[in-house]
Amino acid sequence: MCGIVAYIGNKDPKPIIIGGLHRLEYRGYDSAGILVCNNSEYQLTKITGKVNALSKMLETKPNIAPHLGIGHTRWATHGIPNDKNAHPHYSNSGKLYMVHNGIIENYDSLKMELINRGYSFYSDTDSEVLVNLIEEIKVKENVKLHKAVQLALNQVVGAYGIVVCDTFNPKELIVARLGSPLAIGLGESSFYVGSDATPFLDHTRKVVYLEDNEMAVLSKNGKINIKNIISDEPIHPYIEELQWSLNSIQKGGYRHFMLKEIHEQPKAISDTLRGRLLVDKGTIQINSINEYKEKFLNAKRIVFVACGTSWHASLVGEYLFEYFIRIPVEVEYASEFRYRDPIIEKDDIVICISQSGETADTLAALKIAKEKGAFIYGICNVVGSSISRETHSGIYTHAGPEIGVASTKAFSTQITVLILIALKLAELKKTFDSRQLHDYQAELSQIPGKIEQLIKTSSSIDEIAKNYSDSQNCIYLGRGFNFPVALEGALKLKEISYIHAEGYPAAEMKHGPIALIDKNMPVVVIATKKTNYEKVVSNIQEIKSREGKIIAIVSEGDETVAKLANHVIEIPNVSECFTPILATIPLQLLSYQIAINRGCNVDQPRNLAKSVTVE
Ligand code: G6P
Repeated sequence: MCGIVAYIGNKDPKPIIIGGLHRLEYRGYDSAGILVCNNSEYQLTKITGKVNALSKMLETKPNIAPHLGIGHTRWATHGIPNDKNAHPHYSNSGKLYMVHNGIIENYDSLKMELINRGYSFYSDTDSEVLVNLIEEIKVKENVKLHKAVQLALNQVVGAYGIVVCDTFNPKELIVARLGSPLAIGLGESSFYVGSDATPFLDHTRKVVYLEDNEMAVLSKNGKINIKNIISDEPIHPYIEELQWSLNSIQKGGYRHFMLKEIHEQPKAISDTLRGRLLVDKGTIQINSINEYKEKFLNAKRIVFVACGTSWHASLVGEYLFEYFIRIPVEVEYASEFRYRDPIIEKDDIVICISQSGETADTLAALKIAKEKGAFIYGICNVVGSSISRETHSGIYTHAGPEIGVASTKAFSTQITVLILIALKLAELKKTFDSRQLHDYQAELSQIPGKIEQLIKTSSSIDEIAKNYSDSQNCIYLGRGFNFPVALEGALKLKEISYIHAEGYPAAEMKHGPIALIDKNMPVVVIATKKTNYEKVVSNIQEIKSREGKIIAIVSEGDETVAKLANHVIEIPNVSECFTPILATIPLQLLSYQIAINRGCNVDQPRNLAKSVTVE
């Protein structure tokens, strides 16, 4: 949560930081701020609201020709969203300024100690405590800023990504990380800092990702010094060359990132399959599975750990793995798993799924499972993310940057990866014969084309959405492979339209939710052909008898449900194990259109953030 951008060099930092903060707004957007300074002056601007408001306010200020700046877009943890709690925060002397992402867990005791030593506080944030602790140490120990930062961080319990500067000596930026990501872009005698690399993608492709417990001193003369915060050992910077295109982080003519990302799914899934699905050779190539073949073949149990949409993908994984490889699977909320002293046996494999690769609960659960001796496999989208680096092995989804807060292409590519893994393990374990596996492989290769077709013919969804834009509630039902899709459909609707929505296994309806059904209740039912179809049709009858409004996702050519439902949305006929990818698409579009009709900000829904780096 929270986005950080900073710059030191010869250019004007303002447009760099404001542009960068716009790209990081997916991390939080309740308030924003920027500090810029030159050798003799500095200027602080903070405001409640989004980066646009900050940018407008900045335009009214005189230009002080700065060469250094730090900026922040906030997702509130300690202290409500208001101007004073917005970052950057400053020390009592007014010299040191800092932006912070994360939570200082022992801020209360540190604050009491500082108050006893005469410090006062203007905000309710934990961050203001840290910048004052740095100042206290700098003065008391008479040390340079980077040393004071290091000593202060050794007293801190919690998570942080920080950038600190001294406005009275603006020759360097001090950057440090524990648990909250920070990327450093290397320019011509200049440095860019971001919570990820997107803020500086149009300025430089050379990036150094800080590791946990590392800090860097970025000097105006172009020098970078990295060291370990605890051991004080110097670290040689490992420079990576970014491959992302600028188009991938722009709206590209779409009204919203979410809509763009929904439409990108055929390409994203093709990218996921590329080089892995080798239909001609009748096999699937996943290096990380080949390398750890024995582990996977000997695994007695697979435990998925994830949050949010990635947890829903994990549930699809459970159905896929049970079907294809007949192995016991458990699906855990990372936030529960981490605090439950989970039982991890030898020969368990823990698979962590995360789009961002930075979700704090998933990362913590991963570390616990690792300590307990499990083999950890990661499925991430963001290359080089914390989770991808902490796992023993893993696979990237290659969905490209996902910017809309509501996850879309990340989900479908996660399922695609899970299908690939399931098919590969089925090949290794010989749970299916090669003919059957080849048929599945061939069918999988057709999925991107089928999605493309589905999106092209989806205009009826806009009409359907009009009927339900004023609804207060909505129920989503699905069975088998499509039960997780019902959960995901409900999550999409509540996230972006603020309509209360719940997903259930269709047969559970009679154990409670059926009491909610009346003429005002829309019920979205995934009623594709194959297993349980007749049973879902019976559920539809039960809803109809109680005058519920039925929106059914059906297989192409379905006539039975069409006679019962108020609306049907057809998806192409595919094997049941592939339906979650296809059935999800109309649910994404339906939520999107309903949210638009309600005037909601679909890319930045209230109270949410894309990357949840706090507990
Ligand atoms: C947040 C996002 C969700 C996402 C979840 C897990 O809640 O808003 O869209 O599914 O975090 O994120 P991850 O990056 O771990 O998949």
